[in-house]
Amino acid sequence: MTSISAGPAGQLRIAPSILSADFGFLADAVRAVDAETDWLHLDVMDGHFVPNVTIGPPVVHSLRRYSERVFDCHLMMAEPGRYLESFAAAGATSCTVHVEVGDTAALVRQARQVGLRVGLAANPDTPYEAVAPFLGSIDLLLLMTVFPGFAGQSFLPEVMAKVATARDEIDRRHLSVDLEVDGGIDETTAPIATRAGANVLVAGSAIFARDDARDAAHRLREAALEGLS
Ligand code: DX5
Ligand code: ZN
Repeated sequence: MTSISAGPAGQLRIAPSILSADFGFLADAVRAVDAETDWLHLDVMDGHFVPNVTIGPPVVHSLRRYSERVFDCHLMMAEPGRYLESFAAAGATSCTVHVEVGDTAALVRQARQVGLRVGLAANPDTPYEAVAPFLGSIDLLLLMTVFPGFAGQSFLPEVMAKVATARDEIDRRHLSVDLEVDGGIDETTAPIATRAGANVLVAGSAIFARDDARDAAHRLREAALEGLS
């Protein structure tokens, strides 16, 4: 378990996704973007909820030796409940489970019990009504801007209506909930997402697939800020 603070909700955070980094040099990739980013987004795929397979608690544990960042673990897993305790023990700060897997209330409770910050994710075609009942009991709402499974897909602008609805409710109820978008975020789409109300931007390709990841992260933040002005 980790006591790393995520800071106050609602502030702009850039969260590079290591899915697009070179897995042979993960610690270097994380260090390279350290000065220009806030959280670290770790995409966990189980080959069931999504067709792809990526990383699990051992990689979280290893990376923890090199970074004191918020580790924002996105669990694209059919049975996340089997692993929450292992992620917490490995050094995850937060775990985000998908609402599509069901059993959400129990998963949220379980994540809290093991000391995690709790995130809830929704696929692009999942209606806002599916996540709305849980807004008061989570720390982060992740509205996917691509269908999960792979990096490098195109941003789906139609999700912005859902982002705006969520932002309205979070503000209206003064909830301490971060609103995150993930998928196809780059310098063009970042200001669209922040303008709609997102405050945590995940980006894989737009950071780690660029020649200079640090500079790319810097430009992404500048672009995101434009959406807030
Ligand atoms: C997609 C993952 C994303 C992905 C984002 O399933 O959840 O975090 O790495 O990659 P880009 O930014 O390339 O769309
Ligand atoms: Zn993700």
